[in-house]
Amino acid sequence: MLRFFYAIIVFMKTTIIALDALSKNLIDDTFKQGYPIPFPTETVFGLGAPFNQEAVIKNIFQLKGRPQDNPLIVHVSRIEMIHEIAYVTEDAVTLMNAFFPGPLTLVLKKRETVLDIITAGKDTVAVRMPAHEIARGFIERYGKPLVAPSANLSGKPSATHVSHVYDDFHGSIPWIIEGEPTMIGIESTIVDLTKKPYTILRPGHIQKHDLEAMLGPVFDGSSSVVAPGMIHPHYEPSHPLWILDGSDEAIIKFMKKKDHAVFIGHQKFMPFMAHMVSLGETEADMMQTLYHVLRETNALHVDTIYTHKINHEAYMNRLMKDRKSVV
Ligand code: TXA
Ligand code: MG
Repeated sequence: MLRFFYAIIVFMKTTIIALDALSKNLIDDTFKQGYPIPFPTETVFGLGAPFNQEAVIKNIFQLKGRPQDNPLIVHVSRIEMIHEIAYVTEDAVTLMNAFFPGPLTLVLKKRETVLDIITAGKDTVAVRMPAHEIARGFIERYGKPLVAPSANLSGKPSATHVSHVYDDFHGSIPWIIEGEPTMIGIESTIVDLTKKPYTILRPGHIQKHDLEAMLGPVFDGSSSVVAPGMIHPHYEPSHPLWILDGSDEAIIKFMKKKDHAVFIGHQKFMPFMAHMVSLGETEADMMQTLYHVLRETNALHVDTIYTHKINHEAYMNRLMKDRKSVV
């Protein structure tokens, strides 16, 4: 019997399915069996589990290889759901009116209903209402809030294409909800509203000045300052990523001597690099394609990945993330 069960786990077929084909019964059964269901959002794909089912949430940590002390974001499809899980302040309402649904996560005081496994035992909870129609449609169909970390193995870049989710989890979950590559490409901005000064814990598409236009001064708690000339290692140890800071000419000259390396960056460098993968032409392009290109280049037979600095806080924050904190 044990062997039979083992065989099912090892050879589970993973199907990429349209939300329309995933009935409420199928969703319920999947969660009952302990499996989370990945779904697209406008930022990155999330790995969803019901906020009130501890067994499935535990499985999320196991499947990702995520440390239990890293709390999860609760995703809702309607504002009313937030009141079930958190104490909503006046300033939270101001931000919700301005930015929900969208790529913003609010940290608020939690209600009793929220399981400790979600908050890592804290008295606060992170909540987000995604803008993506499929994300909200999935939560609506299930009918209750879903916790969802990014749908990637710990230590890998977040998943921005459905194929990334498949690469990381095929064989261990039955369903992945289909979606186009995600529009924004980096995770939501997180702001802690539980104490003043309000603090940005993770920068994102919604920026400090957007929040300050609503609330007044907000503290940036994520350190993403790149000192001139500094270079930073990143993600996969087998493929260290270095960020070059200098003039375009200096970067091009530096790369001429690097035979076993690949350069990733702005399209403008393309004519000058022997081995390059373009991230596109605008900041939005670069954010949208960064994780995909990192996954691609990590699979190449090169010693090192090089890239360049740009003047965008959230983008630089992701490039500089220490491997351990990219979960
Ligand atoms: O865009 C996103 O936010 C994506 C999509 C799927 O919604 N989700 C995402 O989840 O990036 P995850 O688990 O990869 O990152 C959540 C971050 C973690 O850094 C965690 O520490 C922080 O949110 N977080 C969650 N609850 C928190 C809390 N109560 N207080 C402070 N930080 C919290
Ligand atoms: Mg993550």
